[in-house]
Amino acid sequence: MSEPYQTIRVEKDNGITWVIFNRPEKRNAMSPQLHFDMDDALGALAKDDETKVLILTGAGAAFSAGQDLKEYFRETANNPELREKSQAASNRWRWHRLVHFPKPTIAMINGYCFGGAFTQVCGCDIAIAADEASFGLSEVNWGVIPGGIVSWNIAEMLSHRDAMFYAMTGLPFDGRKAAEIKLVNYSVPLAQLREEALKIAKVLMEKNPAALRATKEAVRHVRGMNHDQAQQYLAAKLSELVAKDKDKGMQKGLSQFLDDKSYRPGFGSLKN
Ligand code: COA
Repeated sequence: MSEPYQTIRVEKDNGITWVIFNRPEKRNAMSPQLHFDMDDALGALAKDDETKVLILTGAGAAFSAGQDLKEYFRETANNPELREKSQAASNRWRWHRLVHFPKPTIAMINGYCFGGAFTQVCGCDIAIAADEASFGLSEVNWGVIPGGIVSWNIAEMLSHRDAMFYAMTGLPFDGRKAAEIKLVNYSVPLAQLREEALKIAKVLMEKNPAALRATKEAVRHVRGMNHDQAQQYLAAKLSELVAKDKDKGMQKGLSQFLDDKSYRPGFGSLKN
């Protein structure tokens, strides 16, 4: 990892790694440098044994105000090399690196979340927002489309009615509405947001890491499959998990439930 980064902070705390967009004076708008920093950090953290769960959030009043209209759009307009490099990094970390991140990821939306920032919200496994957060597909307001892959993200994540409504009107909505339309799992008052994210991270850290990784891959990837493909894929995925899991979670779970009768899988994680 090329720490210290110019535009993000990476903070590790007992298995939880906080990745914090850190341009509060620019509402954490995503500049080319921010894309390079995120691309580097997520690549390194994927292999980092200290990172069990990753929480993505923003410093100050914003989660992220989307792409930096000055540095990402205007200033790269006559610099095709920088435009291409920053576009590649932007697409890679906001989708490929997040979706394939081998540990659970939580988007904690603390404030403004506009345009391009929807991609990383959808790329994380779980998303929680402050009631007071302000979301918006503002692209249409300034004469463009939800580009990158934002239109695809909202078409996949939201109902057709909601995707079309918010993309076409550009109207902002708060964290409660984001929860209602299922852009995020749920929202809580801003004062409780950090505590809530920690609570979820701790629940995730009780699980077998191999089972968690296989679960997120399974749920994400069956979406594009038909029934037969999903059945075949999931059978192969389970075999892969059993073969690869060095903690032998499944055997332990079965034994604690069936032999010792010391444990109820319905109520929580097995004992390690
Ligand atoms: N790109 C570049 N700079 C941005 C930015 C963006 N997306 N969002 C905010 N900033 C900058 C502002 O230019 C300003 O910079 P300055 O102090 O050097 O003038 C600074 O951040 C603060 O922004 P300001 O507009 O004064 O803050 P605000 O709290 O009143 O409003 C927003 C916040 C997010 C509602 C508003 O900045 C905004 O509409 N941003 C654009 C959001 C957008 O359309 N994003 C989609 C991009 S795909």
